Amino acid sequence: MRMPSPRLWIPPAAAGAAGVAVLAVLTATGAVEWVAAVQLLVLWGLALAVGLLLLVVRRVSRNVDRLGRRLEHYHKSAASEGGIAQRLESMNRMLRLVRDNDVPSLHADARKLGARLVEEQRGRFDRLTAHVTDQGRRDYQQQVAERELRDFVDPDRFMPALRGWAASPDVLCLLVEKIRERRPGLVVECGSGASSVWLGHALRRVGEGRLVALEHDERYAELSRDLVAAHGLADLVEVRYAPLRPWPPARDDAQAADERERQPWYDLDAIADLTGIDLLFVDGPPGGTAPLARYPAGPVLLPRCSPRAVVLLDDTIRKAEQETSDRWLADHPEFERVTVATEKGTHILTRK
Ligand SMILES: C[S@@+](CC[C@H](N)C(=O)[O-])C[C@H]1O[C@@H](n2cnc3c(N)ncnc32)[C@H](O)[C@@H]1O
Repeated sequence: MRMPSPRLWIPPAAAGAAGVAVLAVLTATGAVEWVAAVQLLVLWGLALAVGLLLLVVRRVSRNVDRLGRRLEHYHKSAASEGGIAQRLESMNRMLRLVRDNDVPSLHADARKLGARLVEEQRGRFDRLTAHVTDQGRRDYQQQVAERELRDFVDPDRFMPALRGWAASPDVLCLLVEKIRERRPGLVVECGSGASSVWLGHALRRVGEGRLVALEHDERYAELSRDLVAAHGLADLVEVRYAPLRPWPPARDDAQAADERERQPWYDLDAIADLTGIDLLFVDGPPGGTAPLARYPAGPVLLPRCSPRAVVLLDDTIRKAEQETSDRWLADHPEFERVTVATEKGTHILTRK
């Protein structure tokens, strides 16, 4: 049991002693009767006790407040790190050591805590280093892929940037490789943009084939068309505006009523003339337009592919595109699939 702080007991003790002394003098000189002196002493003692109690309450409440603030602060930092219970326990232990004035144990605990914090920071630093290294490797791979693309298409003007909203250089390398190997007559791309220009240059380079790029957004259709024209590719690349319409189109009222089965996809009128597709690149419509935005490309366009066709589905790192590809294979067992670990994930489908 520790002695209470001297600041707490010295003032009331001194006041009590002073009161007793004054009363003793007054009684001895006959100024006050001893009975009255005892009564005054009791009153004095009571006043002192009340004052002391108020002092203790104020002090305890201040300490509780301080402890609350520290716990709140500690809880916040511990919550972000996990291990709240462990941290609270170690803090409690340190508070006990402070209370018991156990300096050696406090010192040992502080060293342990410091070592743990260093370990945590090291873990964070290692994770950050791994992330930066990985990102650097990915960037380098895309730079190499873009360099190979440039070497092949040998463009005579500035090329539109890839990655981000546009396809990445690695998937374009796969497409250009198919163009070089297979010399497709008809290439169809779902989703126009930078890739339409790169693919157009590749077709120009091999000297045969044409590209039809479907685009659901009128503004982007115009932008892509301008880009294609600026690259002198309008004779090879057609950017075709194909607004999204409910799919499959309702054949009767009963089917029209079942909206759950329907989702938007490119206007079928816009693809009516597309048969014998040799290379199909499915990179649209964008994911936000429907849960399985690209699924209809399978039932609509796979039957329109030539026997030697190659189909590339981009963004298969996403669950929706994985499910799309699974469904295509289930619906069309005549196709087989190869998975390529490109930046955004690519599935390549060919006939068995
Ligand atoms: C996944 S992106 C890919 C488009 C294209 N295959 C490419 O790689 O460049 C699909 C959609 O992006 C939109 N888009 C086209 N040009 C764009 C641009 N300059 N900026 C932002 N989005 C664009 C179009 O609506 C397009 O259908």
